[in-house]
Amino acid sequence: MTEVACGIDIGGSGIKAAVVDLSTGEFVGERVRIPTPQPATPAAVADVCAQLLEQLGVGEDIPVGVAFPSPVLHGVIPFIANLDPSWAGTNIIDVMKEHTGRTMVPLNDADAAGLAEIAYGAAKGVGGIVIVTTLGTGIGSAIVNDGVLLPNTELGHLELDGYDAETRASSGQKTKQDLSWKKWAKRLQRYYSHVEMLFSPDLFVVGGGVSKNHEKFMPLLDLKTPMVPAQLFNTAGIAGAAWYAAQQTAKARE
Ligand code: BGC
Repeated sequence: MTEVACGIDIGGSGIKAAVVDLSTGEFVGERVRIPTPQPATPAAVADVCAQLLEQLGVGEDIPVGVAFPSPVLHGVIPFIANLDPSWAGTNIIDVMKEHTGRTMVPLNDADAAGLAEIAYGAAKGVGGIVIVTTLGTGIGSAIVNDGVLLPNTELGHLELDGYDAETRASSGQKTKQDLSWKKWAKRLQRYYSHVEMLFSPDLFVVGGGVSKNHEKFMPLLDLKTPMVPAQLFNTAGIAGAAWYAAQQTAKARE
């Protein structure tokens, strides 16, 4: 693998990028951010990615990974919940190539966070089944078994009590509905017990911005599975995308 790679994390409010030292997962130099264009169409988002790469001065030989808030099947977005609907059916690799002149490696944002927590963070060296969930506008999920990712699991869209789970239990909904920690924790309890029953994981890692307040809700949950906050906090998407891009690029060269 190369020593550094670049990661871009596409979110609903900001698009962030940095060059990552792959031995530590830390950023080399600054992290750059541009607000997500509205509407966040494929062309507008790809133009922002081009600007970010220019700001960072990312050379041609550096692999670039891009984390996306939707499933990514062989470069194509089948559906999207929290970004412009015109992304559905788009091939990210083609759009990025057209607007940035580069071949990028796309993946789901929660998968990126999961890979980063395994490589550098809370699940480093943990065997068995690790489920990383990101609580934000939506709920993202990554299932990793003995270090191997099962991509695009979309557990945020499990049906719970007749609802799409992320419309009940995401931290975005906590804010939107002004739920107390206790009320929100009740919803999280329903959610995580259900996921626990389905997958019998060895560890839950909880990421997303709200994980910095983990003392407020984790102690209220009663689960059989140990649960820890993510360690990489808001750098996981970028670090995981960079790690994955380097790994895929090395694989393609073999
Ligand atoms: C999307 C997932 C994404 C998650 C977090 C969900 O709405 O369907 O693909 O990982 O939000 O961004």
